[in-house]
Amino acid sequence: MRKTLRTAMRLALVALTGVLAVGFASAPSQASDPGTDVVGGTRAAQGEFPWVVRLSMGCGGSLVHPEVILTAAHCVDGTGNNTSIGVTAGVVDLQDPARITRQSTYVLQAPGYNGTGKDWALIKLNSPITNIPLLSMATTGANDNGTFDIMGWGSATEGGAQQRYLLKAQVPFISDASCKASGGSYGGLVDAEEICAGLAGGGVDTCQGDSGGPMTKNVNGTPVQIGIVSWGEGCARPGKPGVYSQVSGMYGNIKAGLDSLVGTPQPGCGKSGTNANDVQIPDNTTVSSSVTISGCTAAPSSTSKVAVNIVHTYIGDLVVSLIAPDGSAYVLHNRAGGGTDNINQTYTVNLGSETANGTWKLQVRDAASADTGYINSWTLTV
Ligand code: ARG
Repeated sequence: MRKTLRTAMRLALVALTGVLAVGFASAPSQASDPGTDVVGGTRAAQGEFPWVVRLSMGCGGSLVHPEVILTAAHCVDGTGNNTSIGVTAGVVDLQDPARITRQSTYVLQAPGYNGTGKDWALIKLNSPITNIPLLSMATTGANDNGTFDIMGWGSATEGGAQQRYLLKAQVPFISDASCKASGGSYGGLVDAEEICAGLAGGGVDTCQGDSGGPMTKNVNGTPVQIGIVSWGEGCARPGKPGVYSQVSGMYGNIKAGLDSLVGTPQPGCGKSGTNANDVQIPDNTTVSSSVTISGCTAAPSSTSKVAVNIVHTYIGDLVVSLIAPDGSAYVLHNRAGGGTDNINQTYTVNLGSETANGTWKLQVRDAASADTGYINSWTLTV
């Protein structure tokens, strides 16, 4: 009942703010024509690209570790302590009250970056983002071909305004040889560090403000980061492809940089436990479901996984936590997502300081009335 009301209110709000956004963005009309509006893009759905983030200096980025954003070297000023970059995550609408915000603590700009190639940087966050999926990086060039997804809050037309709502589009791979033949700066393409994508006739591309954001490919249903938005001559011009940092070609260096920021992940003991007994979640009530881990000789992994399947009609009502055997609580989900149905997500948690063996609990608190559900199942891998 109440859900219908809340949904109606949400729709009214969206309609209202939509008008404001058009007023603000002025130039590019937020067209309902799905083919034309990144340049040539359409609105991304909430949760479609959960790991893409917006950075306060006007770039994009991707969550590649709970505490680290991958972006472009040209988006940052150098390497060192830096508390000035704001990060907005977990939303397509940058004004969404459910947005997750963090601040930078340290920036690692690609060693040797001089404006040509090596356009990557890592930003360490002031606290981990544990409740949105991570984007995995391409470790080999096997998927550096085909059709890619691009997305960002940058201009929707060359010279146009930044966007409030995340736009997405798809672009095909362009070989190094034909990219280099595009004239001008394209002749200086760094084969091993840059990868091009776009339509021969133009019309679809990333643009100013999309820099640092990911270009991804769906590999057997799992998104993999192939590129980082880097540069192009104008945006979406015919014969002028988008140029992206080639993640596979620099993976070793990016991974080494990541490890230097967060330490080499502690491997853990590799054991899992599942509880698939349904536990009802009544309104304004806290319930839990247990899993027992035994036989571990190593401590849990610093990238332990908690796969959660909760059926519920309004996940904005829920606070979901993992409770360690000693009672320490790790909040996985804290009332984000509004009226979205169901949580079906794997969270990465640093359980490195816990003892693996014992009884772990998935605790779910329903903090509002009207919508209910149940814990369907959950799996802990330490
Ligand atoms: N360097 C630009 C930025 O800072 C990204 C440009 C991408 N251009 C393109 N045509 N694909 O946002």
